[in-house]
Amino acid sequence: MILVTGGLGFIGSHTVVELQNEGFEVVIVDNLSNSSIDVLDKITKITGKQPLFEEIDLRDKQAVHQLFKKYTTISGVIHFAASKAVGESVENPLLYYENNLNSLIYLLQEGRNIGLANKLRSYHLQNQGLDTLAANWHLGFSADERSFELATILLKHLGISSIQLLSNNPLKSQALQAGGIKIDRMVPMLGRRNAFNQDYLKTKKQKMGHHLS
Ligand SMILES: NC(=O)c1ccc[n+]([C@@H]2O[C@H](COP(=O)([O-])OP(=O)(O)OC[C@H]3O[C@@H](n4cnc5c(N)ncnc54)[C@H](O)[C@@H]3O)[C@@H](O)[C@H]2O)c1
Repeated sequence: MILVTGGLGFIGSHTVVELQNEGFEVVIVDNLSNSSIDVLDKITKITGKQPLFEEIDLRDKQAVHQLFKKYTTISGVIHFAASKAVGESVENPLLYYENNLNSLIYLLQEGRNIGLANKLRSYHLQNQGLDTLAANWHLGFSADERSFELATILLKHLGISSIQLLSNNPLKSQALQAGGIKIDRMVPMLGRRNAFNQDYLKTKKQKMGHHLS
């Protein structure tokens, strides 16, 4: 399921039509601040399918949290909900910070697939001695809850069939290959080891097979 924010707006509504025509299930979030609910009927008429719709203001952090709780199968977010008039942004810059930055931050926090609150719970467990993997398991999650399907779809749409992958994570490489993308080379991303990250990196290497020396 793909979440399209601002999905009743100009670009968002066209995107929803394309997604539905390609067979994706879509949930739209829009606060109707610059669009009309009639657009939903128009999308339905064009595609023959009514997208799911939630009238939510993305500046409302709690509402965003509830949204991700309700739709647990969201595997990708296309974010169009924003204020975008240049003159208005000069007159009311705080609105623009709030609408365009806070909303994005809330989406990213909830969109981590385990949610920010669970990420903090995971850190707490790691402080008590569990490693990053065991902490996720303890909370009932798998090692990595992310789906890389959307990346595959986007690459294919752009006509890109082979890439150099900047990552140490073999699962990422496998997921992209399973989606038909050829990995020409994996370019290691090696940060500096220190007292704070050495155990974390050790777990990634030993238990998750990350390409780390
Ligand atoms: N239209 C263009 O030519 C163009 C070009 C390049 C980039 N963009 C960018 O694409 C994005 C979408 O542009 P658009 O032209 O479709 O704009 P739009 O105003 O038609 O659509 C934005 C939608 O987001 C909704 N929205 C705004 N704030 C919201 C919030 N807090 N919570 C929920 N919904 C909210 C509005 O009701 C509207 O339906 C913007 O970031 C814009 O800067 C647009």
